[in-house]
Amino acid sequence: MWKRCGIFQHFYCGIILKCVLIDFASKKCIFANEKVKFMISERDFICKKYSFSQEKGTVTWEAPSNIALIKYWGKKQNQIPANSSVSFTLSECKTLTKVAFSEKKINDKHFSFEFLFEGKSKPDFYPKIEQFFERIEKYLPFLTAFHFVIDSKNTFPHSSGIASSASAMAALSLCLMDIERKFTTMSDGYFYKKASFLARLGSGSACRSVKGNPIVWGKHPEISESSDLFGVELDFELHENFKNYQDTILLVDVGQKQVSSSVGHNLMHNHPFSEKRFEQANQNLSEILEVFKSGDYDKFISIVESEALTLHSMMMTSHPYFILMKPNTLHIINQIWEFRNITKIPVCFTLDAGANVHVLYPEKYKNEISDFIKNRLSAFCQNGKFITDKTGVGAKSL
Ligand code: PMV
Repeated sequence: MWKRCGIFQHFYCGIILKCVLIDFASKKCIFANEKVKFMISERDFICKKYSFSQEKGTVTWEAPSNIALIKYWGKKQNQIPANSSVSFTLSECKTLTKVAFSEKKINDKHFSFEFLFEGKSKPDFYPKIEQFFERIEKYLPFLTAFHFVIDSKNTFPHSSGIASSASAMAALSLCLMDIERKFTTMSDGYFYKKASFLARLGSGSACRSVKGNPIVWGKHPEISESSDLFGVELDFELHENFKNYQDTILLVDVGQKQVSSSVGHNLMHNHPFSEKRFEQANQNLSEILEVFKSGDYDKFISIVESEALTLHSMMMTSHPYFILMKPNTLHIINQIWEFRNITKIPVCFTLDAGANVHVLYPEKYKNEISDFIKNRLSAFCQNGKFITDKTGVGAKSL
C-alpha cells in the first residue's frame, strides 16, 4: 500500500489553525454579525489523510455542458477569472466518463493513464490530461499511486462546434473526487466544491458544470459564498419564469475553433477595453441577479444579448483581432429580433466562443419557438442541424 499518506495530516491542523486565527483576528466581526463565514482558500483543498482501503475500482459520472449568460473572458494566473460570470447548466449535452483505477506496481512519481474516447484510444488528448494531472496533483496526491483508464464519450455529436471541455473536465474531476472519497471521509458539500475547484483547473468554465442552476463563478459582493475558485449555486430561489429554461443550439459552423479560448483569454491582457469590460461584467451580474428574483424577461434579454455581443466585440478589438461569428450567425440574430418584435415572445440569443447560436426561451413558448426554428432558423444551420436542450440539475453519478 501507498506509504506517503502521513504528509497529509497537516490538512486538519490547517483547518483548526484557520478557525483560531479567524476567531481572534475578527472578533469584532463575530459580534457584529453573530455569524462568521469562512472564506475557503486553495489550502483547504490540499492534503488529505488517506487510508487506502481499495486497490482497484471503477467510477462513472456524467456532467453537462453549460452556457454562460454573463461571460468569462479574461483570466489571471491559475485559472482565476478576471470577472464573475453566471451560466445555465444544460441537461442533454453531456460527457459520460468512466475511470478505472488500479494500484501501480511501481510507485514512481509519474502519472500512468490511458485515455479512450468513444471506446477508441486517443493519444492526442494525452498532453491535455497530463497537464491537468500536473495542475491538480497537489490537491489529489493519490494520482501518482494509481494507473487510470479514462473512458469518455459525449451525448452531443462529435465536432458539432460545441465545446466539450467544460463537461469533460467536470465529469473527469467528479470521477477523481469519487476515487478520493474512497480513501477519506468528506461531506457532500466539500465533495462538490472540490470537484468544481479541480474542474476549473482543467478548463475555467468547467467549474460551472458540476451543479445546476444558475451557477455563479467568481467573487461577487452580492453572492456571499461566491468564489474565484469554484462555482456556487444562487443563495435565493430562482423566479419561476427561469425554471426549465430552454436552449436550442443552432449549429452554424461545426468545424474546429479557429482561435482557442486560452488564446482568447490571454488577449484580454493589454486589451484596450479590458478593465471597463471586467467592471461591466460584474455590474451585469448584479443586474441579472435582480432579474433572477423578479422574473423580468425584457431585462434578461437585454443583459444576455448585450453580453454575447460584448464577448465577440472583445475578440474583434484585441490584437491580433479575430471574428468567430459567420454570416449565418448574423442572419439568425436578425431573424430572432424580427420574430420577437412581431410576436412579443421573449426569445433571445447568446453566443459562445464560436459561430453557433444558443436560442434561449421560456418553456411555455416551446411549441411556437420549435416551429420558428424548424421553419426559419434551421436554414442557416450547417446541414440544417440543431440540438434541443434545456436547463438541468447538474452532474450525476452513474
Ligand atoms: O472555460 P474556457 O477557458 O473554455 O472559456 C470559456 C469562455 C466562454 O465560453 C466564451 C465564456 C464562458 O463564460 O463560458
